[in-house]
Amino acid sequence: MSQEPKAIYLKDYKVPAYLFESTDLRFELFEDEALVHAELVITRNPACTASAPALELHGHESVELVSLSLDGRALTDNDYVREGEMLTIATPPERFCLTSTTRIHPESNTALEGLYKSGGMFCTQCEAEGFRRITFFPDRPDVMSVFRTTVEADKTRYPELLSNGNPVARGLADNNRHWVTWEDPFPKPAYLFALVAGDLQHIEDRFVTMSGRNVTLKIFAEEKDLDKLDYAMTSLKNAMKWDEETYGREYDLDIYMIVAVDFFNMGAMENKGLNIFNTSCVLANAATTTDSGFQRVEAVVAHEYFHNWSGNRVTCRDWFQLSLKEGFTVFRDAEFSADMNSRTVKRVEDVSLLRTAQFAEDAGPMAHPIRPESFIEISNFYTLTIYEKGAEVVRMVRTLLGEALFRKGSDLYFERHDGQAVTTEDFILAMEDASGQDLSQFRAWYHQAGTPELHVSDQFDAAAGEYKLTVKQSCPPSPGQEKKSAFHIPLAMGLLNEKGEEVELPNGETTQILNVTEFEQTFIFSGLSTKPVPSLLRGFSAPVKLFYPYQRDELMFLMAHDSDGFCRWDAAQKLAVDIMQALIADYHPDKAMVLDGRLVSAFRSVLDAEGLDKAMVSKVLTLPSEAYLSELSDCVDVDAIDAVRKFVRHSIAVQLEDRLRAVYQENDLDIAYSPDADSVARRSLKNLCLSYLMSLETEASLQLAKAQYEKADNMTDMQVALVLVAHSSFRSDAKALLADFYQRWSGESLVVNLWLSIQASDPNEGALSRVLELMQHPAFDGKNPNKLRSVISVFCAQNSTHFHALDGSGYRFLADRIIELNSQNPQIAARMLTPLTRWKKFSAARQALMKAELERIRESGDLSKDVFEVVSKSLV
Ligand code: TRP
Ligand code: ZN
Repeated sequence: MSQEPKAIYLKDYKVPAYLFESTDLRFELFEDEALVHAELVITRNPACTASAPALELHGHESVELVSLSLDGRALTDNDYVREGEMLTIATPPERFCLTSTTRIHPESNTALEGLYKSGGMFCTQCEAEGFRRITFFPDRPDVMSVFRTTVEADKTRYPELLSNGNPVARGLADNNRHWVTWEDPFPKPAYLFALVAGDLQHIEDRFVTMSGRNVTLKIFAEEKDLDKLDYAMTSLKNAMKWDEETYGREYDLDIYMIVAVDFFNMGAMENKGLNIFNTSCVLANAATTTDSGFQRVEAVVAHEYFHNWSGNRVTCRDWFQLSLKEGFTVFRDAEFSADMNSRTVKRVEDVSLLRTAQFAEDAGPMAHPIRPESFIEISNFYTLTIYEKGAEVVRMVRTLLGEALFRKGSDLYFERHDGQAVTTEDFILAMEDASGQDLSQFRAWYHQAGTPELHVSDQFDAAAGEYKLTVKQSCPPSPGQEKKSAFHIPLAMGLLNEKGEEVELPNGETTQILNVTEFEQTFIFSGLSTKPVPSLLRGFSAPVKLFYPYQRDELMFLMAHDSDGFCRWDAAQKLAVDIMQALIADYHPDKAMVLDGRLVSAFRSVLDAEGLDKAMVSKVLTLPSEAYLSELSDCVDVDAIDAVRKFVRHSIAVQLEDRLRAVYQENDLDIAYSPDADSVARRSLKNLCLSYLMSLETEASLQLAKAQYEKADNMTDMQVALVLVAHSSFRSDAKALLADFYQRWSGESLVVNLWLSIQASDPNEGALSRVLELMQHPAFDGKNPNKLRSVISVFCAQNSTHFHALDGSGYRFLADRIIELNSQNPQIAARMLTPLTRWKKFSAARQALMKAELERIRESGDLSKDVFEVVSKSLV
């Protein structure tokens, strides 16, 4: 890069000068190039007040302009300016037709943006700014056009030719070629354009919408994966039905297609009528897919489907509004998954992710509000903040409005803005207009970054029977935001009396939402005879860190009595965190540790209790992750966290061994695999017991794990058994099982990814050299993001003692990979950089090593915008 990349600001937004009535594209696909012919009907935008504005089109430097003409007249170099990513025509007419031919190279496109090849097939990824790598076009979401697309390619290699909308014509051409024309009647921004050409098989089904229209559903994959498409189809139909029932949203085209591809930067993409999915988010069957894999498929299929309304019919005005579609759609898919499975379990999983990863992002150098003010590269803003925190913000809107008014608000939003490109402000306005509520203060959630903290204290006046809760809020500074205004925080709470019964609150119920709007506020509850135990942040009603000085006995009391499932789990987490944090603070390698017996007795009573939801039992018994304990630390002590977790797990296993074995046996049923919520729960409890037992490192537990591996009829049981043996000190058994596993599954790419991950996360000595060896293995492919994630990201995130080795070898390894990937696939390079950006959380010695690697990346030469932005912001 000759110049430093510049930031783009929300405040500079201007309406587009031209509208694009229609976009006619013809693709000629070859092995060594692709030609793209575009015919654009363009008119002045009456909403743009500039007189005689220039026409500005985006075009990536990799696009070769073969020809350009205006109303049939060929343009020469003097008629336009091509500079950087822009092509400008100074004074075009009011209405005209612009035709162009461009030449691009999908066969050598390793960035996986625009048109590229995944294995033997052509496919596209245009969000956010990939369309400019295909042809010259206003590549901004507020320019919407009706697309008509013809795809022409070799008939033998590419029998299936797909694009958005409905197929309207097809035919044969010379040289064994054929073509298909597609028409999408819905105006859309270029980022929703899609094209696929390949040798694909599909399954087909049908959905009848609530108004009685027939929709053909097709899911495409390579022939070898045809047996892994049924679950996605069922999930799709469930999602279509759910969106009709829950939001009144009906599908709008006659056909809905999903295509599975191996090479993909993210999870999946909601292109109108033609979703493109990473194979990891669509393929599933019992033999090859774990329970969490099934759940991911269900959630992602639903997510992309829900985008048809929250994203496609109503889209974003500009990329600063990304959370408008992503936050809302994540909220929608989370509620769908909650309805399909266990609601509390889904909530616990989402909150765990938010608290570990999103809170860490909010506290790091890339922290940004869910509606950012500026960016250098938008791809860097597909973050947990935009997605997960964005979903929490929508959830708070629903909490504040109540379900009925929230639905009224979403109806109004979809009706009012159908066919438009809008802002998060439009979303909030619709919610206000439909409900009559004032969300002015609530808007701070959109423009203030950082995780708010609530410090709660209480006071009981026995004589007056009065209980006072005092809530103080604050929010730490984040880049560019020193001081924050007070947030409007819905704090759901309840009170438990000394018998563990719920107290009736002023609203006549046992849960009430406190509107926290001031920096300090006191809430008074009267008519109480004894001091209650408060149950706070029920259902995790706001994405905040809540502090209340719970005694360990009070946490055990809440674990046993709280009527809110989320808070029961949270009490167990808090108890474990409190105990483990004390051990971490006190840690010394030569000093013996002692475990507070209350954790063991709490866990024992959960194991013994009759009739508890098994999924919840296994969540409660799962120790806080390394990542969560790290997030909670001011200065992460990698070795102490690792040692304490091992010690606590081992102590629990020693003391509860018989119970764990019994619960394992009770749940080890010989019945056919099903991914339903009850079966998933049973397997997760069983496998949790196995992992505790395996931490004993006895011959008996080794045999148990090996037996499970041998008899498993599903990937969940098989994978857990393999992980436990592979990560144990039984090195020869580990080696043998890993070899066996690879032999069985070398033909299944997604299973091989599990095999790679298991080895990359193996904490035994020599981890880094094993990782380097894995990268030489024929199963590894340095161009495939799934492989890169399975080895490199897994090593950095899940093998912390080795990644954070004090000789700096882990950091150096990652920096080397980033420097290689920077030119090959900038999006993946920037994403994989995340662990190094957190350097300020570590000891001085590690800080220095991490920072040196960031500096080495910065000085390594031509940086992509993606990597430049992350590195430069991290080094501030
Ligand atoms: N809109 C997609 C989703 O969340 C995200 C996505 C898919 C994406 N592929 C991408 C974003 C590539 C940036 C780059 O469903
Ligand atoms: Zn999305």
